[in-house]
Amino acid sequence: MQKERGKYYITTPIYYPSANLHIGHTYCTVMADAMARFKRLVGYDVMFLTGTDEHGQKIQKIADEEGISPKVHVDRIVETIIRLWDTMEISYDDFIRTTEDRHALRVQEIFRKINANGDIYKGAYEGWYCTPCESFWTDTQLVDGKCPDCGRPVEKAQEDAYFFRLSNYADRLLELFETNPGFLEPETRRNEMIQFVKQGLEDLCISRSSFDWGIPVPIEEGQVIYVWLDALSNYITALGYPTIDDVEGEDEKYRKYWPADVHLVGKEIVRFHTIIWPAMLMSMKEPLPKKVLGHGWLLLGGGKMSKSVGNVVDPVTLIDQYGVDALKYFLLREYTFGQDGLFTNEVLLKRINADLANDLGNLLSRTTGMAQKFQDGLLQKPGTATFGVPVPAHDDMRIDEELKDLATSVAERVEQNMDAFAFNYALEEIWTLIRRSNKYIDEMAPWALAKEDGQKDRLNQVLYHLAETLRIVSILIYPFMHYSSSEIRKQLGLENTEILWENAETFALESSYRLVKGESLFPRLDIKEELERLAQLNPGGDLKKGRQRT
Ligand code: MSP
Repeated sequence: MQKERGKYYITTPIYYPSANLHIGHTYCTVMADAMARFKRLVGYDVMFLTGTDEHGQKIQKIADEEGISPKVHVDRIVETIIRLWDTMEISYDDFIRTTEDRHALRVQEIFRKINANGDIYKGAYEGWYCTPCESFWTDTQLVDGKCPDCGRPVEKAQEDAYFFRLSNYADRLLELFETNPGFLEPETRRNEMIQFVKQGLEDLCISRSSFDWGIPVPIEEGQVIYVWLDALSNYITALGYPTIDDVEGEDEKYRKYWPADVHLVGKEIVRFHTIIWPAMLMSMKEPLPKKVLGHGWLLLGGGKMSKSVGNVVDPVTLIDQYGVDALKYFLLREYTFGQDGLFTNEVLLKRINADLANDLGNLLSRTTGMAQKFQDGLLQKPGTATFGVPVPAHDDMRIDEELKDLATSVAERVEQNMDAFAFNYALEEIWTLIRRSNKYIDEMAPWALAKEDGQKDRLNQVLYHLAETLRIVSILIYPFMHYSSSEIRKQLGLENTEILWENAETFALESSYRLVKGESLFPRLDIKEELERLAQLNPGGDLKKGRQRT
């Protein structure tokens, strides 16, 4: 049994189903998935939430253009999103859609609660209106002073709307940032938010009447709740809060999992999560999330990936070519949390070849290959009837100790790095062991031992050590690449055994192994050939083409 460490609630943003998701979106979800799997493995009771943010003017317009209802449009896109997460085996515990009753009815209740607290008033929303598009735009959304959608002139216009008294919360928000530095990371984002609040907060428009694709305002017909109040609420409506059904246990999940341990979000929506969201919760007198983590963007040669510009990288294309684990590993290993990173086909291919084909793939195939060739796949813990305990040369004994010490100490360092959301360093720790094990093969040269008389026990011992490091590796990589973890365990003959994190801290655990040589985990790629193929299949990741597009 695993030790019980309490609860852990992690969320991703809910994605707009305006078009299919691209690799930038999968980046955040892959990080959340790795963290959720890791926390489960070390003994937490995890709740991992994701979903879709389906209302708003933009979705309505896209659907109008397609000549279908917004609901039909979002249903189609949401289906592709769920299929993508299924393909990637994203281990979410719940998927919330803002068009579901369980969400919409609770958002109305949230509106009522905030209103009852005196934080909502009726006013006039003023913006730039494009008459042909029937759309309001803000100053920053305009492109050269014109409508960003059709390029035609816009004019100032007003409509009745409800406002949330965000300005009332400026002092409490500043206090939050200053007294609780862990609330928002990285540090640079925190400083930006402090500056933002200090410049003065305006009240937030939370309803519209110029379109109707939204949750109706519960206190007036003809108004719909406008985006962020609707979207942010998903983190609690999915847990059954506020109660609407008067059913025993309705908000049981809320009591158990709230406050969230972490909201993972992209840097451009940090502001909504660390200003509007805490202010809404303060108004409702509910606890605040423990942490908001803002990650950077994946960029293409020409800048940010954008569905509207059309320069995107489709995760499905890459998964079809290289598999889910390769993509997940790449995203987690290549980029540093909090910073932007450049995506190119070349960086992807080089990373797959170096770390996955050369390091991990080779370690497995060399170990299983030699075990098969020299011992019919049977390895035993030294000191059994078949294999005795050899006395290796002094230097070799030292190297054995070094390998064991390293193998049993990686888990702790992975844990420390995961606590800091440093996925890349966590993986680097694991790869230090993988590379050390490959070097161990070169140093111990089992093929030479196989030829020498009297080295039968030592040969068994060396191969057994390798099987043990691979067993440990299979546990360590599980949160990040569970297919590869299972494949390694299958080839080690451990496929029906439970993966326990603490077993990564013990060496010489198994009494014997029956290894089965299987498929190569990650076949070596011919980079030049693959680059040519990907230039056609995935032009967004081609540095030259990516640049031309913007
Ligand atoms: N619906 C809102 C979020 C509401 S959360 C209560 C939204 N949706 S989105 O689909 O536009 O973006 C979702 C997330 O994807 C954001 O966190 C955003 O940063 C992330 N990404 C979109 N493009 C990205 C990259 N190119 N790289 C990394 N992340 C990116 O905002």
